[in-house]
Amino acid sequence: MGIVITITSGKGGVGKSTAVGNLSVGLASRGKKVVAIDFDIGLRNLDMILGLENRIVYDVVDVMEGKCKLNQALINDKRTKTLYFLPASQSKDKNILDKEKVKILIEELKKNFDFILIDSPAGIESGFEHAIFWADIALIVVTPEVSSVRDADRVIGIIDAKSEKAAAGGEVTKHLIINRIKSDLVRKGEMMSSDDVLEILGIKLIGLVPEDEKVVSATNSGEPVIYNKNTKSAKAYDRISRRILGEEVDFELEKDGFFGSLARLFK
Ligand SMILES: Nc1ncnc2c1ncn2[C@@H]1O[C@H](COP(=O)(O)OP(=O)(O)OP(=O)(O)O)[C@@H](O)[C@H]1O
Ligand SMILES: [Mg+2]
Repeated sequence: MGIVITITSGKGGVGKSTAVGNLSVGLASRGKKVVAIDFDIGLRNLDMILGLENRIVYDVVDVMEGKCKLNQALINDKRTKTLYFLPASQSKDKNILDKEKVKILIEELKKNFDFILIDSPAGIESGFEHAIFWADIALIVVTPEVSSVRDADRVIGIIDAKSEKAAAGGEVTKHLIINRIKSDLVRKGEMMSSDDVLEILGIKLIGLVPEDEKVVSATNSGEPVIYNKNTKSAKAYDRISRRILGEEVDFELEKDGFFGSLARLFK
């Protein structure tokens, strides 16, 4: 049975869709069969990041409403053949998702894929609860800002209260991704450090992603930055993929990447 990973956040615009795009390529390029689903109804985004926007015919709501078969809506990635994508509907009705229909879809996908990555709307938006309900693992994305961290704290509470696992007496595994870290600002004490964020949220860290302008150019060209292997963000997403697969990857590597150049100056 496949593992459902929901990528979510409290505040919007912190890098969820970017993380879904890159981690789905990261897992698929390591031989796993992966489907990335865009649950952000009304706002297509993940298709652009994956460069698949021109291939869309059917979407996730068409599947749930029986307008097409699942495999008619799934789009195979151009480069990584074990990766599939299920686009969001552009319906204006954000409440269009139905709990039972979402369940049937997720169960079907679990039979066919190793990993189901769900791109969730931010925690305040409707649709969010559907995206977290079936999660085995929640990856919570924050940027090192007070508002983002505070809203993430709220979302952790909702996951603990409202997921299917919570209702059954269990717990969703929750991991934190801290995105858009500007190491020079952290050093000057002008940005929250990862330790500050972790102390407030009290969940396990799975990745530190630096601010990287290459992320933006990658989105514009429809090729997730993880393909650009020498960039610092690609390395960060690759390490997160390996950690999802159970590898122990030292966090010092991240610190080397950000602080290494400075440390070398003082050697
Ligand atoms: N590490 C990074 N470095 C630089 N820019 C980044 C980084 N991560 C994300 N971005 C940029 O931040 C913006 C928001 O990212 P993204 O769309 O992934 O966020 P989101 O959380 O999915 O937003 P929404 O809540 O609207 O769905 C995009 O322009 C993206 O290119
Ligand atoms: Mg998004």
